[in-house]
Amino acid sequence: MSRPLSLNAWARAAAALAVAAAGVSAQAQSSTPVKVGLMLPSSGTFADLGKWTNNGFRLYVEEQGGKLGGRPVEYVVLDDESDPSKANENANRLVKRDKVDVLVGTIHSGVASTMAKVARETNTLLIVPNAGAGEITGAMCAPNVFRTSFSNWQPGYASGVLAAKKHKTAVTISWKYAAGDESVKGFREAFEKGGGKVLKDLNLPFPNVEFQPLLTELATIKPEAAYVFVAGAGQVKFVKDYAAAGLKTSIPLYGAFITEGTLAAQGEAASGLQTVLHYADGVKNPKNEKFIAAYTKAFGSAPNLFAVQGYDSAQLYDVGLKAVKGDTRKKAEMIKAMESAKIESPRGPLSFSKSHNPVQDFYVRVARGNQNVMTDTIVKGLNDPSPDCKP
Ligand code: PHB
Repeated sequence: MSRPLSLNAWARAAAALAVAAAGVSAQAQSSTPVKVGLMLPSSGTFADLGKWTNNGFRLYVEEQGGKLGGRPVEYVVLDDESDPSKANENANRLVKRDKVDVLVGTIHSGVASTMAKVARETNTLLIVPNAGAGEITGAMCAPNVFRTSFSNWQPGYASGVLAAKKHKTAVTISWKYAAGDESVKGFREAFEKGGGKVLKDLNLPFPNVEFQPLLTELATIKPEAAYVFVAGAGQVKFVKDYAAAGLKTSIPLYGAFITEGTLAAQGEAASGLQTVLHYADGVKNPKNEKFIAAYTKAFGSAPNLFAVQGYDSAQLYDVGLKAVKGDTRKKAEMIKAMESAKIESPRGPLSFSKSHNPVQDFYVRVARGNQNVMTDTIVKGLNDPSPDCKP
């Protein structure tokens, strides 16, 4: 009969077993796919934006041999329809039924705000690849919530800086929801700081495209400039309607997104429009050159801002996963690595503020043919101060 183990021997045996078990589970982790919940629109006004974001994310993963942080990637894809009323159910389905490791989404501010609420409630990591709702990195900011795109205030503010250089009065036109309201707020802040005055804010509900009455009113007010926030398929019709109404030559049009990804559909109506965003055709850096070549090869058309934002969302998640060697249970360590990430983005250097919103340069672009050609940098390292974020 073998001798009973001494207490010390028991402790040593238990420790050895624990080490073996941890080793096995680390092993299992590395071959188990990490589950990415891609909650993006594939129908409705923002369908193309969803597709470009999705393409960008997958391109980065493919470049890593289909792995992030050493683990294969499995996607769970859901069409959010850019419908805020379905967002709670959709996000909860991904988290609770599909048990995703990370939520990635979305385009529409209202839907993304609900995703942020669900992410907070369930302590799920969320990476927002577009939607600019201020509260996501403002009043609702949280350690597990990141954004790789912009806050609505940022492109609005940078556009106001540009418009104030040439004009004293402006009228704004926007969809009446968080993105429109906040974009106009940012524009007004910089435009009025620069000595201009916003005479009137005109609105219509998302995603309506009955622009005619607003354009008639704009023509009556006769400001020196107009600033617009509409997006996706809506921006194609807006830019065409604006030109058809004869306003393009009489009231210079400013906007951030209005020509991004849609120049082919807008044709001559968009030609010469000046816009301000954190990406442009002709941004010169080695990463961008490689990115454009790889994206074009994979998808048969040139990338745009939305593809860049999707690509960078995957880059950011990879930073977190690599820091913990793919062990998603080490959430605090992942978050720490992501907070201090310095990402080489096709847009230029990308880092994050204390509220997890990008700090980035904003470029002036002019629409020529099928390109939004970079002509200048209007604001360097723009940081949304996010005063309401108390992490
Ligand atoms: C938003 O809802 O935050 C949004 C949507 C489309 C854009 C930009 C912002 O192009």
